Amino acid sequence: MKKKLTIGLFGFGCVGSGLYEVLNRSNLLNATIKTIVVKNKNKQRVLPADHFQYDKELILADPEINLVVELIDDADAAYEIVTRALRSGKHVVSANKKMIAHHLDELIALKNQNNVSFLYEASVCGSIPVIRNLEEYYNNDTLRSVQGICNGTTNYILTRLDKEGKSFDEILKDAQRLGFAESDPTLDIDGFDSKFKLQILIAHAFGVITLPADILNIGIRNIKEQDIRFAKEKGLKIKLIAASEKIDQKVIGYVAPQFIQEDSFAYDVNNEFNAVTIEALFSDRQVFKGKGAGSFPTASAVLSDISALQYDYGYEYRKKETTQLNYASGFSTRLFISSTNPDKLKLIPFTEVEETFSSKDYAYKTGTVNFGALTHELYRNHPELFIAFFPQTEGNFKLAPVEENVVLQNTF
Ligand code: HSE
Repeated sequence: MKKKLTIGLFGFGCVGSGLYEVLNRSNLLNATIKTIVVKNKNKQRVLPADHFQYDKELILADPEINLVVELIDDADAAYEIVTRALRSGKHVVSANKKMIAHHLDELIALKNQNNVSFLYEASVCGSIPVIRNLEEYYNNDTLRSVQGICNGTTNYILTRLDKEGKSFDEILKDAQRLGFAESDPTLDIDGFDSKFKLQILIAHAFGVITLPADILNIGIRNIKEQDIRFAKEKGLKIKLIAASEKIDQKVIGYVAPQFIQEDSFAYDVNNEFNAVTIEALFSDRQVFKGKGAGSFPTASAVLSDISALQYDYGYEYRKKETTQLNYASGFSTRLFISSTNPDKLKLIPFTEVEETFSSKDYAYKTGTVNFGALTHELYRNHPELFIAFFPQTEGNFKLAPVEENVVLQNTF
């Protein structure tokens, strides 16, 4: 029997307005939007002004509304809305990866205490149904790694940088115009958005709940034309990869640009498309690819959560209850760094150097770096440096955890 859902919708931006339309076009007969609350009274919207309210109590205090769909931008305001909705016994669907990543443990406890569902498929990789797949299909014992292109904006920028001569800033503006980028695009280009998504993926893949501050994120802000040329000469592409891997009883995770070989799942994932590859013991590698940003693709994941709620679906977090794994933030890997100022290469301590190149306006170095020693702060303080993971000579990255567990200072 389909449950009747009376929806209170927060936010009518790119995803909220997309949801309004896909809900109208779909056959979810028992789900209707009763109230839409938005922040800005003066904004021009596709629906007449009388469709909107501005007081959140009109949703939160309405006993008839049994589902809150939270699609606003502001993570702090979203946290308040979501926690209040859960406490008052309403189901919640959210797409706010930043808010979820920072408060996941608490939100799980709240939804359990109040016996409601909290779903957020749209928060990770837009239209790709990866959370429900990790939750339901893959068990923790056989799962080895989850990695992906989880940010549409940076993938769109990297794709176009690879193909055209347009500048980074111009392409970013296009990504903003198309509704892919966050309102603060720093979150996209410095790898924070990918990191929030990775943190959610790690929770559902391995049952390990870590905090965003534990996961290293390096973005694409400092990529240069010469870096792209270097990749092309070697038959490689540069992609922003979010990855987690199980090594012994530890899970490591990172977001960083990577040089990608032609046989990689990521090589032909272009523009705003995202892809996730899941490696498990017997199934080997599987790849899910789809649009990771934009109005309708993201709204389709929200719609799917609403549809699942009609049958009382909820994440059970069984892996979280039983996992023996711990998160480790120290590991070493092969790295590429480059700068227009050769002196800047000395900033990153290598344990082993493989190749160096230096001319008067471009220099690079490859070798092995212990990520216990490289903090995000170090990277951010030296904007001249482009840092990318470099593939092993054979196959994919193999990362070796080091003894100490470092605390990274990269908060946002
Ligand atoms: N800014 C995000 C992206 C939106 O570019 O992927 C979708 O989460």
